[in-house]
Amino acid sequence: MRKNIVAGNWKMNLDHAAGLQLFAEILNLINNELKGNQEVVVCPPFVHISSLAQLLKANSTVSIGAQNCHHSDAGAYTGEISASMLKSSGASYVIIGHSERRAFFAEDDLVLAQKLDVVLKNELSPIFCIGETLEQRNAGTHFDVIESQLKEAAFHLSDDQFKKLVLAYEPVWAIGTGLTATPEQAQEVHAFIRSKVAEQYSAELANELTILYGGSCNPKNAAELFGQEDIDGGLIGGASLKAQDFVDIIKVFNS
Ligand code: 13P
Repeated sequence: MRKNIVAGNWKMNLDHAAGLQLFAEILNLINNELKGNQEVVVCPPFVHISSLAQLLKANSTVSIGAQNCHHSDAGAYTGEISASMLKSSGASYVIIGHSERRAFFAEDDLVLAQKLDVVLKNELSPIFCIGETLEQRNAGTHFDVIESQLKEAAFHLSDDQFKKLVLAYEPVWAIGTGLTATPEQAQEVHAFIRSKVAEQYSAELANELTILYGGSCNPKNAAELFGQEDIDGGLIGGASLKAQDFVDIIKVFNS
């Protein structure tokens, strides 16, 4: 069965004490009250990962994710973090290809393909982000952009590898802007992504794939977005920094 996931991307926010406090509040509000089959992923800055992981119970529905990792296994890459370090610190997911990494750190398809490989090799699940800019949407090239992002960075994976991916459609124009994609706009792209995956792999694999929506998702619009046939949850930025808002979004899957 297709998994529903709500993932919080804290980005570069919250010092250590504030991060621990927010995470404790989230766990407290969730308090075994999840009635759907939803999974929760919290992606804090690297330095909080091991402390947060220690607060998790063994059978928790909450997992920890990282926001990035280096594309090599190890070596002379001052300041970088490897997938195996993340795994050994308690992470089970890694966000790869976030538009802020593509824009501010010049991450291209080639390096993202290598990152997907190293994340999978270390038995972590990538949350692979794709999405168009406002310019690309206005020019009507958004489907081409998304197809190319998938093809160039992810379609080299085998069936068994691709199955382990979670995809996240994050239109760049909707991130942090308050301009959410309409449920219809998001559904249209999610269905397109699923059709491309079906073409490349199989209808069965595409149908099992979890595809998240991200971009100004909040407790007010989450139910309508997640109610769309091909939207299986969200990758939440700003609203994941407020415990009650984040848990309200998670609980959309309770009903
Ligand atoms: P916002 O929810 O703040 O728009 O951010 C979305 C995002 O970039 C999650 O990765």
